[in-house]
Amino acid sequence: MSEINKKIVFSGIQPSGEPTLGNYLGALKNWVLMQDEYECFYSIVDLHSITVRQDPAALRAQIKKFMALFLAIGLDPEKCTLFCQSHVPTHAELAWILNCYTMFGELSRMTQFKDKSQKHADNINAGLFTYPSLMAADMLLYQTDVVPVGIDQKQHIELARNIAVRFNGIYGDTFKIPEGVIPKTSAKINSLADPTKKMSKSDENINSYILLLDKPDDIIRKFKRAVTDSEAIVRYSPEDKPGISNLMNIYSAVTSKTHDEIEKEFDGKGYGDFKLAVGEAVADLLKPVQSEYERIMKDKDYLEKIYSEGAQKAYYVSNKTLSKVYKKVGFIKKGF
Ligand code: TYM
Repeated sequence: MSEINKKIVFSGIQPSGEPTLGNYLGALKNWVLMQDEYECFYSIVDLHSITVRQDPAALRAQIKKFMALFLAIGLDPEKCTLFCQSHVPTHAELAWILNCYTMFGELSRMTQFKDKSQKHADNINAGLFTYPSLMAADMLLYQTDVVPVGIDQKQHIELARNIAVRFNGIYGDTFKIPEGVIPKTSAKINSLADPTKKMSKSDENINSYILLLDKPDDIIRKFKRAVTDSEAIVRYSPEDKPGISNLMNIYSAVTSKTHDEIEKEFDGKGYGDFKLAVGEAVADLLKPVQSEYERIMKDKDYLEKIYSEGAQKAYYVSNKTLSKVYKKVGFIKKGF
């Protein structure tokens, strides 16, 4: 196993629902860009996903789908480590330790906890509450430098940093303090049905999101229906034109055009033309991903090989940190 000397990246995605364009533009696209320069660990965080009730058969299918999509978007197992969180027991083990260094008040302030407990009022379980300590364990186990995420994860990363600083303060240097990397225009892709809300794979309205596996016709139809305003001018102004500004962010992230360039391109044209252009650009982006996905899904043995090898490497690397932590807190060495 080669020693790691590049800077380290960790990030994760929950296998709940299906990956959306928001996940792609906010995080996954950066994951792919980073694999050449960094030592990357990317995880399907299945332990996190059961903080909300999941159907077991559907979850199993989703996990494989996500792994195939990792490969289809261009993550290369030769360059990065791809694995399922539940295959690497160090995550749950370090999470327990970190729970003992995370304050009740800190967890109570997490907006995601507040949102999810409102949404799932019948299942406000302890896992939902301590979710950020598991997330901190994910990052800290790999001595992570950089965490590419969308803006909704910023608060969790801040908390992970605080936990790491606290632990290092008590026991001496143990964890690297990770930094979040958030994209400029696509930090938060919003819902097509309510552009003041985040695009989310758990939204009940299927027209509110674009899935990476949506067919071109569906993509174009969803963009045509996207909620906008009545001004009929393509102009970037998130406060008073959230719908158009969201579409501009999407178009900008997909085509690399600036907001100024987009405004000029659609000067004098109606929203119909603009929405069609965004829909076509997204459909074109996703077409090759979808055909690659179909091809990979037919080769289950290959998929299994990738996530098995990924878990082995992730375990080897993360166990070094866990052993260090066990020693620091005062546990004795195993005799077997
Ligand atoms: P999750 O599964 O909700 O989302 C995965 C990634 O996609 C980003 N994202 C978005 N970005 C822009 N616009 C959107 N509409 C949008 N929706 C989602 C998220 O910010 C995230 O980067 N708790 C995490 C998973 C996790 C993790 C970690 C991430 C577990 N451990 C350690 C980083 C490091 C989550 O629920 O992401």
